[in-house]
Amino acid sequence: MRTEPRLTRSVVNRLAVGEDGAVAPSLAVGVECRTDGANMVAQHRSVDRIERVRRRLDQTIGLLKLLGNPNLTRPDLTYNVFTSMGEKSEYLSMGYWKNAETFDQAGQDLVHLVADTAGVGPGHRILDVGFGFGDQDLYIHDHFSPARIDGINITPLQVDTARRKVAERGLEDVIRLAVGSATALPFEANTFDAVLALESPMHFDTRETFFHEALRVLRPGGKLVTADMIPMPGRRKVGLTRMLPMLAIRIFWQSPGANRYPRTVYEDKLRAAGFADAEVRSIREDVYPPFARFIRPRLDDPEIVARVHPLIRAVLKWQWGLEADLPGEDYVLASARKPVR
Ligand SMILES: C[S@@+](CC[C@H](N)C(=O)[O-])C[C@H]1O[C@@H](n2cnc3c(N)ncnc32)[C@H](O)[C@@H]1O
Repeated sequence: MRTEPRLTRSVVNRLAVGEDGAVAPSLAVGVECRTDGANMVAQHRSVDRIERVRRRLDQTIGLLKLLGNPNLTRPDLTYNVFTSMGEKSEYLSMGYWKNAETFDQAGQDLVHLVADTAGVGPGHRILDVGFGFGDQDLYIHDHFSPARIDGINITPLQVDTARRKVAERGLEDVIRLAVGSATALPFEANTFDAVLALESPMHFDTRETFFHEALRVLRPGGKLVTADMIPMPGRRKVGLTRMLPMLAIRIFWQSPGANRYPRTVYEDKLRAAGFADAEVRSIREDVYPPFARFIRPRLDDPEIVARVHPLIRAVLKWQWGLEADLPGEDYVLASARKPVR
């Protein structure tokens, strides 16, 4: 039976699931239209458009807040607007590409490298600092079987998403994620067998303060392992034309100047904090050049164009277009042990 289309006022209330997974009511107020199939589609399109515009506006406001913080101490503002470039995963790191062909695989391989270097194993208690959207903790749970993973992350939006993923797997008792800062870890001394920080310590205010905190919460004999971004040894001159984009890149990534020192100084600071067996090795060749080859075309992928703010794409294009593979930047895997007294 064909139902007669009725004239209604197209005020459509619906629940919209945002990019961050948040469920928020959105209201589309349109012109008079009929509730037959075609018009319902039109209504939904208009709601979607309004939702997209709202999201863009939020991101623009977020970016303006970032610009207003030139002292580079608010990475939570960065990660309020920055999403993963992943194919299916939501990894935020640049990944470890030695044996990987996709970004998702490279993200997993970096997690594997870090957890393996820390010697994570069954029965261990792990602290993960700066866990992004939580994919890494599910990976560590599935492949290394620690007894428990605690995670701390400064960006509430990421914590919400990560918690949802953990809940979907029914793992809330094993993987406990919370908002918090690397520089004031909310845990008792001598708690963890390993502390991991995967492409996050360059943001901490400061990395050195985190070293002290990590030492405190580790059990004697426990290991700290980081994957981290630091400058290459030696000074580089920046040409005038590059200064403005470089400044935009620095502000976007909110990484304090106090964390900009090379490998040897990194090792010294680990020792000065009280760690033994400090080792910092460069893995830059398996990170920057392959990631650069991935990210350049990815930034023009229609899927990324649709969901990433044009200003963020511009910053990333500057970053990965200015130079072949960031010759002034190092990428390190660092490890150190809390001494057994
Ligand atoms: C480049 S992302 C890496 C995320 C994740 N490890 C990954 O590889 O997908 C940096 C992460 O560090 C977190 N972060 C930055 N500063 C932090 C702080 N002071 N304490 C805890 N987490 C922090 C950010 O929220 C973000 O999740």
